[in-house]
Amino acid sequence: MTPHAPTPRIAPSILSADFARLADEIAMCEAGGADWIHVDVMDGQFVPNITFGTKVIETVRKLTDLPLDCHLMIVQPERFFDDFAAAGASGLTIHAEVAPHLQRQLTRIRELGCRPGVAVNPSTPLTSVADVIADFDLLLVMTVNPGFGGQEFIPHSLDKIQRARILLAGAESRATLEVDGGISRATIGDCWRAGAEAFVAGNAIFSAKAPKAEIGILRDACAVSV
Ligand code: DX5
Ligand code: ZN
Repeated sequence: MTPHAPTPRIAPSILSADFARLADEIAMCEAGGADWIHVDVMDGQFVPNITFGTKVIETVRKLTDLPLDCHLMIVQPERFFDDFAAAGASGLTIHAEVAPHLQRQLTRIRELGCRPGVAVNPSTPLTSVADVIADFDLLLVMTVNPGFGGQEFIPHSLDKIQRARILLAGAESRATLEVDGGISRATIGDCWRAGAEAFVAGNAIFSAKAPKAEIGILRDACAVSV
């Protein structure tokens, strides 16, 4: 079984960035070798926090050519697909918990020219996405309950990451397996070895003493054998 992509993808989450210095923060991510910029859209309904929407996606789009990996923690996400695509989103990841018409919603994201992704909360079984594997290009396994940066990685997520990798391999899917929440030097290696290949990191990067170097340190941590 092919475990995963040959190199880890690191996606800094701007949720933890200093918004007064957003341009510098994005430039730092680029200089540090980030693969994607992760944009957390929250609505105060699906998750107990409100962040940002179209305007910020548009702003970040102007600041970088890196792909914008937009994670929609919002109810009825389809209301915003057109706006977010027009604002420059590269990928739109929606939550299975609030997407009863997942197949249609993912298809619409693809029609808009964005990479369709689906996310599952820690309590949501992988079976909720098993019948739409052909419709998504990214599977996001949440390793915290979404809503806030800086939370602790849930250790038994590792088992779920392994099962997600097996699910994708069994369906011969080339979808990227991403993890989000509590990813740090201490947790990223185990996630990589469990089969994850894209890593969202907020606090670990933006609160590091040397944020630019931390991006490479996280990537290198995947290469360490245990
Ligand atoms: C959590 C968000 C994450 C968050 C991760 O709800 O989806 O993307 O920014 O932050 P850290 O890496 O600090 O756990
Ligand atoms: Zn996220």
